[in-house]
Amino acid sequence: MPIGVSKLAAASASSSQRSRRRQRNPSSASSSLGGIPTASKKSAIQTIYDVSKDVFAAAAPGFQPLPSDVARLSGFLNGLKLQDVGLDASMPYLRADPDEGHPTVTYLHFADSPKLTFGVFCLPESAVIPLHDHPGMTVFSKILLGSMHIKSYDWVKTPPTGARLAKLKTDTIFDASSETVVLYPENGGNLHCFTAATPCVVLDVMGPPYCQTQGRDCAYYDVKATRGGEDGQYAWLKQVRCTFKIDTFHMGLNIRK
Ligand SMILES: [Fe+2]
Repeated sequence: MPIGVSKLAAASASSSQRSRRRQRNPSSASSSLGGIPTASKKSAIQTIYDVSKDVFAAAAPGFQPLPSDVARLSGFLNGLKLQDVGLDASMPYLRADPDEGHPTVTYLHFADSPKLTFGVFCLPESAVIPLHDHPGMTVFSKILLGSMHIKSYDWVKTPPTGARLAKLKTDTIFDASSETVVLYPENGGNLHCFTAATPCVVLDVMGPPYCQTQGRDCAYYDVKATRGGEDGQYAWLKQVRCTFKIDTFHMGLNIRK
């Protein structure tokens, strides 16, 4: 997903004014608006953290969990409902602000450690998380509400000179009945773009976290050209300056680590 630690902090700070204007501040909105995790709704979130801590115990750039661990975490996430993480479809993050030019994406940050980070992305209808990468990372994504189009690519091993060649992995609509999608450092659709067909909530568990100081910041791409072939579809991707904005809230859930 598209935000590193530094961007989380920046986004959180920059979003505070907007959140007040919209009355979206979780601490003030929880009782009246619903859809905000509370102490009584943390058990599933704690379980996600506990399982993920095991799965990502050896996480480092390029790390790929064992298949048995992928099955374990995916299996748990597959059975997860929106209500299990203390959210519901009435939360304001799923409604577009008519005063804005495009629907705002909101990230509710649940927990992190040096090995992993997880939370949920809330997308009003038609919101887009543009094409971005996950350098050296493994990401579990489970849609908890709504349906979204996911288009993903993996890099083709060519020298990185300007635009880079990538092979299309996924170009499909997923919804809350879909199983957990897992991407890996070099396959599974390491670069992806989300477009909300309806209001959506998607939970992401990823590791190791983005790290700007290690040269693993999130990068965004535009598709410059495509071509088809007998062995699949390909695209030339060119890195572009990030103009994507996201509202971020740290939920302060007192996860037992
Ligand atoms: Fe992502």
